[in-house]
Amino acid sequence: MSFSDFDPTIKGTLPADFQWGYATAAPQIEGAWNKDGKGLSIWDTFGHTPGKVKDSSTADDTTRSYDFYKRDVARMKAYGVTGYRFSLSWSRIIPLGSKDDPVNEQGLKFYSDLVDELLANGITPFVTLFHWDTPQELENRYGGMLNKEKYIPDFNRYARVCFERLGDRVKNWITYNEPGVYTLAGYAAGVHAPGRSSFRDRNEEGDSSTEPFIVAHTELLSHAHVARIYKEEFKPSQKGTIMITLHGNWNEPWDADDPKHVEAAQRAQEFEIAWFADPLYKTGDYPPSMRAQLGDRLPRFTSEESKLVLGSSEAYGMNSYTTFFVKNRDAEPDINDHKGNVEVFDTNKQGVERGIESDTPWLRTSPHGWGKLLRWIWDRYQTPIFITENGTTAKGEHDFKPSGPDDILEDPHRVDFFKSYLTEVAKASQEGVVIKSYFGWTFTDNWEWAAGFTDRFGVTWVDFNDPEKPRYAKRSAYFLKEFFGHLIAESKK
Ligand code: NOJ
Repeated sequence: MSFSDFDPTIKGTLPADFQWGYATAAPQIEGAWNKDGKGLSIWDTFGHTPGKVKDSSTADDTTRSYDFYKRDVARMKAYGVTGYRFSLSWSRIIPLGSKDDPVNEQGLKFYSDLVDELLANGITPFVTLFHWDTPQELENRYGGMLNKEKYIPDFNRYARVCFERLGDRVKNWITYNEPGVYTLAGYAAGVHAPGRSSFRDRNEEGDSSTEPFIVAHTELLSHAHVARIYKEEFKPSQKGTIMITLHGNWNEPWDADDPKHVEAAQRAQEFEIAWFADPLYKTGDYPPSMRAQLGDRLPRFTSEESKLVLGSSEAYGMNSYTTFFVKNRDAEPDINDHKGNVEVFDTNKQGVERGIESDTPWLRTSPHGWGKLLRWIWDRYQTPIFITENGTTAKGEHDFKPSGPDDILEDPHRVDFFKSYLTEVAKASQEGVVIKSYFGWTFTDNWEWAAGFTDRFGVTWVDFNDPEKPRYAKRSAYFLKEFFGHLIAESKK
């Protein structure tokens, strides 16, 4: 394949200090689930509960990046990245989780060594404090994020330990990864840890009509407390930045000529993104469309809380993958609705598909919607955007049989995905949307939560059947290196 036919009109459109690389999350790649003093997280418990994970796998080993991190950093360097986004496992650092529990020095050492290894290889670390793996003990003691009075001091202390011990070298902090998915999948649908919902065929406990909003409120407030701690106690000497990463796909009206469906798509966008982003970047409060549908089930901010939350995140961390068509529902909203009383479709009224299928049912290649979303976020929030995740699975990758250690898996579907999405990034940048980073999801194939090993999102193929978890590059890894060489402006020094 030749990469020489890149569009000349987008050459050098991204600034010279643009950061790009791959994102990962501790539970999905580390393995070593009970090694060197690590405590249990809710995902360890969930993965060991029969019937919860599609292929009955656990995160016990996954890619074993805990053991092989040096090799992984070397591979990333060969892929040409400038940055690497990874998450810290709270229960590896504080095994029991709370403010009064001891710190595990071996756990901290692992992350400190990883940071050193990255810096020695010229790779900038972007560190997420929380990527869904609440310490199990906090869940047992007081219900985790359902109890904001108890949870906030514990999260504050965990964050302080991380800033104190890693902040001399880590300058890019992310408090939460996708707080919306954590609460919707864990407390509304009940298909992720901690596995709570109103559906008794699925979960023993929970209330999908209230808990997701309570947990989201805790996430926003605890993020804001930690951001304040960072800015007041650490930023003056460490000089880093702190933000939060939100999920959000694009919602396109099913019938763009019918105002009812246009409004429904906007409402869906607000339920998905503005739920978190309005309090953080716009008003200090939830969007009126949510208050109108949910009433008192949506918690309220005191005026002090509202001030604490608004402006707390210094940039917009953006995770996004795909687009859906959205139709208004005429009926009264269901008590367990979290989408803004809409129905979601793969095709629009004219029968146009939302995109080419991947190996993951919800995910289709839809660069057009992604381009609209970049502009929607910029127009509404006027905050610099760090793209912290974007990527795809591709059909047929489970059958790869490498012919030798240097064999490369050809993944044209993923190459096309990256090429089309990054072309939109370049065009939006040309129009003035401020975009500072792009992290592909993900570096290696990994443990995709409740989907286990059935979703291969990596630009590196992993043989999970081999205890050494050998890695093989996919073509897209080399494509991205070339393409960013084309897109990023040369520095003027
Ligand atoms: C978002 C999550 O942050 C990540 O953990 C997950 O694997 C990807 N999306 C793909 O579903």
